[in-house]
Amino acid sequence: AHQWRGVIAEYADRLPAHLLERTVTLGEGGTPLVEAPVLSGRTGARVFLKVEGMNPTASFKDRGMTAAMSAAAARGAEAVVCASTGNTSASAAAYATRAGMVCAVLVPDGKIAMGKLSQAIAHGARLLQVDGNFDDCLVAARKLADSYAVELVNSVNPDRIEGQKTAAFEIVDALGDAPDIHVLPVGNAGNITAYWKGFREYAGQGDPGAPGADLPAVATRTPAMWGFQAAGAAPIVLGHPVTEPETVATAIRIGNPASWAQAEAARDESGGVIESVTDEQILAAHRVLSAEAGVFVEPGSAASVAGLLSRAERGLVPAGATVTVTVTGHGLKDPQWALRTLDGADVEPTRVGADVVSIADALGL
Ligand code: F0G
Repeated sequence: AHQWRGVIAEYADRLPAHLLERTVTLGEGGTPLVEAPVLSGRTGARVFLKVEGMNPTASFKDRGMTAAMSAAAARGAEAVVCASTGNTSASAAAYATRAGMVCAVLVPDGKIAMGKLSQAIAHGARLLQVDGNFDDCLVAARKLADSYAVELVNSVNPDRIEGQKTAAFEIVDALGDAPDIHVLPVGNAGNITAYWKGFREYAGQGDPGAPGADLPAVATRTPAMWGFQAAGAAPIVLGHPVTEPETVATAIRIGNPASWAQAEAARDESGGVIESVTDEQILAAHRVLSAEAGVFVEPGSAASVAGLLSRAERGLVPAGATVTVTVTGHGLKDPQWALRTLDGADVEPTRVGADVVSIADALGL
């Protein structure tokens, strides 16, 4: 019987050798690529969801974290630090525990989804709520790692990108070739950087010196990369940093992305776009995913689907195109959004007696 061994073991021939010395894994990756007929119907394309909430800590961050933590372990590191809007801290905390390291996390005050906060605490992280936003946290985390004996595991760490590029490999492996279009949410812009690197390498267009550059190409082409930011946190779309980013999608509440230039390169080299979607569009897409596609994601993840639907409404999705959409984190991370209507009213369960007649009555049977 074959058991998925985690992304480093599965894609060892296309990753830096130092990740194999002391691999720290929780079995991440191997996530389902789920066809979404509802979205195909709405867009006229053939749409698949890469469901990254199925990773060990329920977000895509685990792919990068296995790599960053394996590299840190190989160097004999004893402590790591990250800034986070929540998911990175949950992942770093879990992998640091596994590696026997101390994990410090800097999170913006009061804007972290409960599920993510509880994960970081459950895994024993040294959690500090910083008086500032994510961008302030990242500046502080970088300085801390520069001056003290702690390793930075944010996506500015190149090993994070190496790990996260495996999601692009998995998509091509599942479809037999690259999609026409790949869609994803953009926050700090590490993930769009990683996917573009992965798609290029699988099409034989990676750097000549990259691991696996001598292997035969797996894909015949690369997709157009479509990235979506939340309208209140859309620095790349606006062309300047946003000093006070705001959005219900707290995961991508980021005003000055670290991988800004790489995101623009992915957009331009792939013939893609980076656009913004409003909180209303994000919550509407969140509802379509949960109530019609059967896939429960956190709001930040729904930004990708919101963007796809928005472009479809404007007639910008080519008919019959193969479209893959990364939904980055699980809905249970931030479940409060399911418990209110799109108008903001609380959803209350209908109360009934324990007899079958009352129950059938309430169900309209
Ligand atoms: N979706 C989710 C659920 C995220 O948590 C993030 C980033 C993104 C999308 C955006 O990815 O930053 O690579 O462009 N979360 C980071 C964190 C910032 O701290 O957990 P990106």
